[in-house]
Amino acid sequence: MDLTAARRHAVRLDLLDPLAHTRDGFRLSDDVVYLDGNSLGALPAAVPEVTRDVVERQWGCDLIGSWNVNDWWDAPRRVGARLARLVGAGDDEVLVADSTSVNLFKVLVAALGLRPGRRVLLIEPGNFPADLYIADSVGQLLGLDVRRVEPGDVGAALDHRVALVSYSHVDYRTGRAHDMAAITREVHEAGALMAWDLSHSAGVLPVRLDDCDVDFAVGCGYKYLNGGPGAPAYVMAATRHHGAMRTPLPGWTGHARPFALEGSYEPAAGIDRFRCGTPPMLSLLALEAALTVFDGLDMSQVRQKSLSLTGLFISLADDVLAPLGFEVVTPRTDAERGSQVSLRHPQASAVVRALIARGVIGDFRQPDLARLGFAPLYVRHVDVVTAVEHLVAVVTAGEQHDERYAVRTTVT
Ligand SMILES: Cc1ncc(COP(=O)(O)O)c(C=O)c1O
Repeated sequence: MDLTAARRHAVRLDLLDPLAHTRDGFRLSDDVVYLDGNSLGALPAAVPEVTRDVVERQWGCDLIGSWNVNDWWDAPRRVGARLARLVGAGDDEVLVADSTSVNLFKVLVAALGLRPGRRVLLIEPGNFPADLYIADSVGQLLGLDVRRVEPGDVGAALDHRVALVSYSHVDYRTGRAHDMAAITREVHEAGALMAWDLSHSAGVLPVRLDDCDVDFAVGCGYKYLNGGPGAPAYVMAATRHHGAMRTPLPGWTGHARPFALEGSYEPAAGIDRFRCGTPPMLSLLALEAALTVFDGLDMSQVRQKSLSLTGLFISLADDVLAPLGFEVVTPRTDAERGSQVSLRHPQASAVVRALIARGVIGDFRQPDLARLGFAPLYVRHVDVVTAVEHLVAVVTAGEQHDERYAVRTTVT
């Protein structure tokens, strides 16, 4: 399809889009095509007002009384329950707290403690570096064998020594989605436990932790959940593990009686034991406001739109970007794709910089990937075409060779 026909097609798809209205729930300039919601979600329109209220009224006027009168104390659970509906978990199974890295540390140690005698932890070689570092550190601290095994090869690596498998649902680099149900089943058949990092799937596809019988999960609040820079993350533990699981970071807020201020630790019942320190109320309540954009949405419709956007981008990439040196590394099969498309290009870093200068915002991942995220709540089909048009223009004019783009920015 050429780009003129593609634009006509995209306009039609947007007119028929049952989710077209959700873009109004965000503050986005029409001058920008924002394709980095997989890294930092756009600003939901509800957030500024709520944040102002939290700062000026709740903190400014109600002061410390807010922990009671504005229900700050229960917010990690309340926001967790809202999030639970997005990931197919029970209201009492999800807690919003800390960062994804910290939550992963808590989950790995807690889960490994549930399989004493098993000494192997399986992780994915290409997982986000933080997940690898944390797993290796846990392995060293507990004297366990940490093995890197591709999700596709997990069956052969499972035996009676494996305690836990920890994978990402969608690969941050390639956008490949793994079969959560099948992998979790295989892991359970071997008597091991399964932990998933949902950072690149929650909010763009229907995650069913309950149907898949997942033991533990973690994920970021600032990507497709739009909670804002540094938004707190979340942790999920299936109810069946609540009684026995132990956190390696026993904080006072996760104590059974926090305000008894006792000298020895007794874990709170349930998921609350994964609380550690005082929650970051400004960003936690910003996340709560941000999650309202999902109210009433059918996640299978969100998934349909996501696949339609990424599918259109891939078909245009094949038609007009491949001859210019781009290679699509994201799976073409719908079931194997998250909501981003990654393009390999020898000058990917400079191409992304030139693209951003033209108002199309994506990002770069080492060594040669341009990563474009299609957040279905605010990206339109016409944005897909605009992005491809600019990619063509950048490379045709050789803008990536501009010396301004030779030096990488701190954050890519
Ligand atoms: C898959 C995945 N896991 C973990 C993290 C790290 O999250 P945090 O910085 O909240 O610890 C990221 C960040 O991009 C990620 O993509």
